[in-house]
Amino acid sequence: MKHIILMTLLTTSALFAAEMNVALMKQGEDIFKQTCIGCHGSDGTGVEQGGFNVQPRNLSKTILSEEQIYYVAKKGAFYWGAVVTGMPAWEQVYDDASLRAVAHYVHYTFGKTSSDSVATYEYDSSSLSDKVLKRGKKIYGRTCAYCHGKQGHGQGVATYNPEQSIFPYDLTKIILTEKQIFLFAKYGGEHWGSQADDMPAWGVKYDDETLMGIAKYIQNKLKVKR
Ligand code: HEC
Ligand code: HEC
Repeated sequence: MKHIILMTLLTTSALFAAEMNVALMKQGEDIFKQTCIGCHGSDGTGVEQGGFNVQPRNLSKTILSEEQIYYVAKKGAFYWGAVVTGMPAWEQVYDDASLRAVAHYVHYTFGKTSSDSVATYEYDSSSLSDKVLKRGKKIYGRTCAYCHGKQGHGQGVATYNPEQSIFPYDLTKIILTEKQIFLFAKYGGEHWGSQADDMPAWGVKYDDETLMGIAKYIQNKLKVKR
């Protein structure tokens, strides 16, 4: 069993080159220009387009790693918790190697700086006290649930109001790690490439410890394992 897990790890990491690969970049660029450019723009920042409830993300601000970009491109954003289907799944259109190539291109052309910034934060929630964990749950219910819903499905009271076109993610399905949840919540949606400012920067209101407690609650109690 251990052996199998190790093999899987090795294979996965081998598929995502630690450095830029020229051949992959070329292949990825072709796909990006064919398919992604119409929504995300040639500079990856996302062009203003009519008919979208949620605008395409600015890929130059993404929190996602190369591997996560691959999974979002493969399965589509809805699979990973978006509540609209504006970002389609491309697995029926492109084979795996092509999807890995376009993820490689997006990462090295647009997303590397913002994605790398995640690594510069020290994050350790392992020794949070019970009190902080309880507070995380409580503040989730009091604050985040207003949009994301009590169980995290993105259907809080705010989203049932037709006057407010807010589209919060279904937090049970998100691809983000606990640390990324913390950072997304701390700095808010716009910081990480959302074109709307509907997801506030909670670092203004809550200290890091509190936000860690909330992130841990989402990661361990709301997110489904898959
Ligand atoms: C029809 C328009 C459209 C096309 C074409 C499209 N996207 Fe998207 N993309 C979106 C929208 C809209 C979102 C935001 C989804 C949301 O948050 O609900 C998005 C989000 C993303 C994200 C998530 C970024 C983040 O930081 O969370 C990635 C990665 C992405 N797209 C990559 C791609 C790639 C690669 C392609 C080409 C294979 C592509 N997209 C083609 C509309 C599009
Ligand atoms: C006013 C509504 C609102 C509230 C309140 C809110 N959010 Fe959000 N949240 C959103 C929206 C909308 C998005 C989708 C991204 C965007 O549009 O900027 C989002 C996205 C997220 C994401 C990113 C999911 C992904 O995979 O990209 C995380 C994590 C998140 N919220 C955590 C929180 C936490 C933690 C709280 C409470 C401290 C919170 N949110 C409160 C509206 C809200």
